[in-house]
Order: sequence, then structure tokens, then C-alpha cells
Amino acid sequence: MVKEDEALFFLLCSASFVESGSDLYTRNLVDYYHDDSDVAGWLGQHWEPEELQHGRALRAYIEHIWPEFDWQRAFDSFFGEYSQRCTLEEFEPTRALELAARCVVEMGTATLYRSLAEYSPEPVLRELATHIRTDEVRHYKYFYRYFNRYNTQEGNGRIKVLGALVRRLLEIRNDDAECAIRHVLNHRHPGHANDKAYIERVNGATRRLVQSHVSADMSVKMFLKPLNLPTPIQSGIEIPLARMVHFALR
Ligand SMILES: [Fe+2]
Ligand SMILES: [Fe+2]
Repeated sequence: MVKEDEALFFLLCSASFVESGSDLYTRNLVDYYHDDSDVAGWLGQHWEPEELQHGRALRAYIEHIWPEFDWQRAFDSFFGEYSQRCTLEEFEPTRALELAARCVVEMGTATLYRSLAEYSPEPVLRELATHIRTDEVRHYKYFYRYFNRYNTQEGNGRIKVLGALVRRLLEIRNDDAECAIRHVLNHRHPGHANDKAYIERVNGATRRLVQSHVSADMSVKMFLKPLNLPTPIQSGIEIPLARMVHFALR
């Protein structure tokens, strides 16, 4: 049912690459919170294994449907580039702000898997995406709780927190997924390797797949939560922000 669906293939590969590369990010994050055994312990014992499990599950699915695709080779070439970029310098300047930014990443993955589940014409993928989404929502809740704990000490105002949220929102649009798609394409269709127009087409197709099934409402609520806004203000800005979140998610 899904074998001929190229946009889905690229989207699943790119998700599986980013998930499978997350131990690199966890190590950096654990370093950032090294003297907080609560946060570092959760990251190392729960968050990291779960993200890696998402990567393995998606990989198993891809290899079952598209056995001709050499997942490992494509992942290795992706990881070569990804590991160079994924450094501590890209973290937010304070612990609370980085935790707020992590909420945005988990909002993004929760949204992605929710729309994948909605889109999937095939029950196994639908179930898989639903399980992963449940994990991502739980990750969000943990990051949100730790954010509140740190922000009580740091006292960052809404403008500062909003800055961290928007910065990470713009980053998740650009970076990881496009890098992953480029490496998938180089192995899937070597004739089109580094072909900018082709990459743009694939990016557009995967973005449309997600956007046409996105629940902007849920995403916007998750995006705004760390700002702790009074209800009337929140309802006033939800609609314009829904558009922005919609634009940012691929
Ligand atoms: Fe994940
Ligand atoms: Fe997650």
C-alpha cells in the first residue's frame, strides 16, 4: 500500500535518521545538565533509549517495505555531516531556555508523528506512528516540567522565553530534515545527488504530506505553553501563531 509513495519514503527515512542520531545530542545535553542528576538521569535512561528505539522501529519498517535501500550506508553518510554540526554552541545560553527550546522540538516530533498516523493508509505504520507520538508527548511533558523548575530560579521573562521558542522553531524547519533528505536522495537516486531542484521537490512533497494532516491547534498550544500566558491573550494570538507553526513544520 505504501511502497510507491516516495514522499512517505523520504519522510520516514529522514525521521529515522534524526532519531537514530539522537544519542549524539543526548550526550551534549547530558553534559549541559551534568550536575543535575534528575535531568541528566532522565535524559540518559529514558529519553535517549526511547529516541533510539524510534529510529530502530522506523528503520525496521523502511527495510521491510524498501529492502533495496541500504539504510546503514545512507545513515553513515548523513551522520558524518550531522555529527559535525551538532555541538554545544548551538544550545540556548541558559538551562531554562534550552529546556523551553527542547519543548519546541518535542512539539515538532509529536506533530510529525500525529500527522503521519493520520496520513498513513496502512495500519502497521499508523500504529507505529501513534506509539511514537505518545512517547514524544511524554518527552514534551518532562522538558516542560524541568523548564518550570529552572525558570523559577532563572526568572526569564516571556520575551526571553519567546525568543528561545522562536529560534528553535525556525531551526527545526531548516536543519536536520533537509540534511537527512539530501543524504537519502544521494543513495536512493545517485543520478540526482546534490541536484538542488530535485531536493527542493522532495522537500516540498514531504512538507505537504505533513502539513495537510497537521493539527495546528494542538501544536500551537504546546508551543505557547512555556509562556504561561493569561487565557485571553493566548486565544488572541493562537490563530496567527497557528499559521507560523504550520509553516515551520514539515
Ligand atoms: Fe523520537
Ligand atoms: Fe522525543
